Amino acid sequence: MLKVEDINLTDWGFWRRPHDYRHEAFKALRWHPDLIRYEEPLVEIVEQGPGYYALTRHADVVEASRRPQDFCSGRGTISIPDMPGDLHEYFGSMINMDDPRHAKIRRIVSRAFSPRMIQRFEDKVESVAAELVEEIAAGHGTGDFVQDVAARLPLKIICDMMGIGEEKYGTVLDATNVILAGNDAEFLPTGSAEEMAMALLGAGESLKGLVEELGRRRRAEPTDDLTSALVNANIDGESLTDQELGSFFILLVVAGNETTRNAIAHGLDLFTRHPDQRALLVEDFDARMPRASRRSSGTCPRSSGCAAPRPATRR
Ligand code: HEM
Repeated sequence: MLKVEDINLTDWGFWRRPHDYRHEAFKALRWHPDLIRYEEPLVEIVEQGPGYYALTRHADVVEASRRPQDFCSGRGTISIPDMPGDLHEYFGSMINMDDPRHAKIRRIVSRAFSPRMIQRFEDKVESVAAELVEEIAAGHGTGDFVQDVAARLPLKIICDMMGIGEEKYGTVLDATNVILAGNDAEFLPTGSAEEMAMALLGAGESLKGLVEELGRRRRAEPTDDLTSALVNANIDGESLTDQELGSFFILLVVAGNETTRNAIAHGLDLFTRHPDQRALLVEDFDARMPRASRRSSGTCPRSSGCAAPRPATRR
């Protein structure tokens, strides 16, 4: 097993190492008796903070999520460096909020995701996925799976559900890529801190502007899309302000596009590297798919495949 002293999660180089190495590293961290503290990365636009602990065990993450008074979200859940001012909320909406504000946004947003709306999205995911695969099978793809399928599927679903037309897909995808670029020079200029900050804010503003303009139209003339449900929702006298709608949209497209794109791309990669698993699924697809895609119900998904006793939560 790797030594924890040799693992540095802050080093960008760690994330470029092969899967197998990273799996071994996380295994070593999970089995180590103590939580490991790391230096924060040096980022141009923010001051370096006091460091962070890497919670690598499911039990530790569950424990942290049950203690919001100790592990707050308001100072940022999705980036290690603390962003200045209100930027956490601007880019992260409710994912970066604590109650009671988190509960308010959550109440309004959950009401918009009605069972009927969810069913529509589910049907849409199936039909769009089939369309994309048919296009590729007919030879219309570029040959890049991420570009042709993994990125297009979530983008189309999210834009359709919000009521955003196809002509804006490019704007939404580009802005998402900039916001989540990290230190990837392909999407975010690595020049001066100002240049980076301007690019990030520009991406946020383009998404916010898009949804605010759409929101105004849907307030005047509601349709059956999610934007109409969000801007017209009034739960016990509460509704979303323009700023809250803009930030929620940034969260929705960023959270929805990047995660799903990676999950689909990694899924194909894993099936390619483990053809026995692919054969098992394809052999009886309808019967096996529901279990293959079932989400964890609170127990650690790893524990089913792990015969060894699991270490208890660390204090
Ligand atoms: C593989 C796919 C996905 C993964 C791995 C993922 C992961 C996560 C994680 C780890 C959180 C934070 C939970 C917490 O704060 O405790 C989160 C929150 C959130 N995700 Fe996802 N997500 C995925 C897909 C999506 C999609 C498709 C959408 C929307 C279309 C979405 C929207 C959100 C929202 C709105 C929140 C904030 C919820 C809240 O604070 O109450 N996610 N997601």
